[in-house]
Amino acid sequence: MKLKWYNFSILGFLVFYLLFSCNTKNSNSLDSNFANDPCSFSQPNLARITHLNLNLSVDFDNKILKGFAEYDIISNKSQEIIFDTNDSLTIDSIYADGNKISNYSWGEKNPHLGRALKVEIKPTSKKVKLYYKTNPNASALQWIPAHQTTNKKYPFLFTQGQFILTRSFIPIQDTPSIRITYNATIKVPKGLLALMSAKNPKQIIEDGIYSFKMKQPIPPYLMALAIGDLEYKSLNKISGVYADPITIQAAHEEFSNTPKMITTANQLYGKYPWEQYDLLVLPPSFPYGGMENPRLTFITPTVITGDKSLTNLIAHELAHSWSGNLVTNATWDDFWINEGFTVYLERQIMKEVEGEEYVKMIESLGYENLEEAINNLGPENPYTALKINLNGANPEDAYSAVPYEKGYFFLNYLENRYGKENFTTFLKSYFEKFKFKTITTEQFIQELKESLTQGQDDFVETWVYNPGMPPLKKPISERLVNVENYFNEWLNGKITATKIPNSNWSTYEYLQFIRLIPEEGISESQMTDLDNKFDFTHSKNTEIAALWYEKAVYNSYKPAYASIEQFLRRVGKKRNIIPIFRAFIDNGNKELGAKLYKQVRPNYHPVTYKAIDKLFSE
Ligand code: BES
Ligand code: ZN
Repeated sequence: MKLKWYNFSILGFLVFYLLFSCNTKNSNSLDSNFANDPCSFSQPNLARITHLNLNLSVDFDNKILKGFAEYDIISNKSQEIIFDTNDSLTIDSIYADGNKISNYSWGEKNPHLGRALKVEIKPTSKKVKLYYKTNPNASALQWIPAHQTTNKKYPFLFTQGQFILTRSFIPIQDTPSIRITYNATIKVPKGLLALMSAKNPKQIIEDGIYSFKMKQPIPPYLMALAIGDLEYKSLNKISGVYADPITIQAAHEEFSNTPKMITTANQLYGKYPWEQYDLLVLPPSFPYGGMENPRLTFITPTVITGDKSLTNLIAHELAHSWSGNLVTNATWDDFWINEGFTVYLERQIMKEVEGEEYVKMIESLGYENLEEAINNLGPENPYTALKINLNGANPEDAYSAVPYEKGYFFLNYLENRYGKENFTTFLKSYFEKFKFKTITTEQFIQELKESLTQGQDDFVETWVYNPGMPPLKKPISERLVNVENYFNEWLNGKITATKIPNSNWSTYEYLQFIRLIPEEGISESQMTDLDNKFDFTHSKNTEIAALWYEKAVYNSYKPAYASIEQFLRRVGKKRNIIPIFRAFIDNGNKELGAKLYKQVRPNYHPVTYKAIDKLFSE
């Protein structure tokens, strides 16, 4: 058969069509329908970045990152492209397609969003290059001098991008609604290892010049960098642990269940999408329990307890590889899409690894956290709904247990109503369908109605849009009820602490016990009785110690104060230390708290000290 010219043109059209149109949200397509993000100035619908080539040198003496960020861009015939910046990040010069640009301008400064950098481009522009340096106070960065680290020999630097801090160390379109790939070259002082949320080295490179490649597209809040005296110890072919030489062995043992968690998650939710899953154990000033930076989760050392009892944290950060990193909340108004799903996945993984009883325990504590958060915020507070409206507010100020636990219990409700198997199948195909995309709450509900609930949506108002406690029965954990019974007997003076059988207790049981201690009216001799039995004041378990210190401050238990001071100097995890400072304030000891804070403040990451500054200024 002879092919006519029109057959060729049809064929040509087909090839063209297949090449350019099969994936409409492909990072190179012009299609632009990005959610309006109140926390970013960047307007990706006009012009947006698709790839970053980052080149930075790290100056520990002056606490400065300096170099350039070069972007591949695509524009909708726009005359400008807008970047987010913050904390006096300095722009030295700008190039578009190799030509120096002098036409750029700054937007008005906003106290938490920073300011927009508007760069004039041609509708045909393909590349923009920004030479810049960071300010020593950049809020994503914690610079730790050598004398403050574990072995006191080398300095340490790490970043924290979420929520909107990446813009303080990279001029960028800092909205979770876009994704970029990146390459980076980072020059560090000799003897240090550099790591990023990318393909990482396993050993120190002599000349201190590290190259990174991140080929899977990620939202900018997941850009991450850490530099320090670090070693690698592998767990299996695709996962391992980085930590300082003093911590590496204990960390490796504590987190040895990670491969099993990966296998479990693979089976439930689809193949692990990022090739490598490593953990980086940070210094104790790390402000969070964990941060799900892709390929390299950042972890606090405070969960290394020796008995693996807090490793649901690893399951949580690993779960973000699907919920959050693969399918990402479109804006911070939809944050529950990241965290609620992740808590749900975390608990399914932990059922496999530790069993139902363990999960009942963390679920029941989760319920109590939710109740407490809603009581503190007030049941009418709009931040107690899953879908929120930040409307220019700082996402940090809306942060609470609500997106985590109300989100979890919502998904748990769907699981019960539509059946576990159906729900798991639904989630698996949801991750497949929306992989490397972003999603709003409304798109999720749409998907839910189409693929699981057959149009039913009677639960949506109650669970998603209404504030307050959802209709929910309190989950009961027998292990925790047992603890509660002993606690009450002790509190009512029926038994002394020596009579409490604690040989099988895990960290969570101790935490529940301490949590039950009232915030006033406990005498020094009662506290001493507990200390004689459990020695909480000198506990090496940071979570246990932190909760005990909070109660100690509330009840003015002086024998713990020296340990409290040491603790606050060493640990910078927000959830551990903010309640202790708050206890000083609530208990009429604001001055003592402030005096202590003044001494330890230089040891904290900017997100931590900003939150505590606010606490003391209220
Ligand atoms: N992504 C969060 C940490 C985060 C949230 C950092 C918001 C900055 C802004 C991380 O996945 C997380 O939720 N960590 C929890 C631990 C988890 C077991 C609930 C934490 O750090 O407390
Ligand atoms: Zn999380």
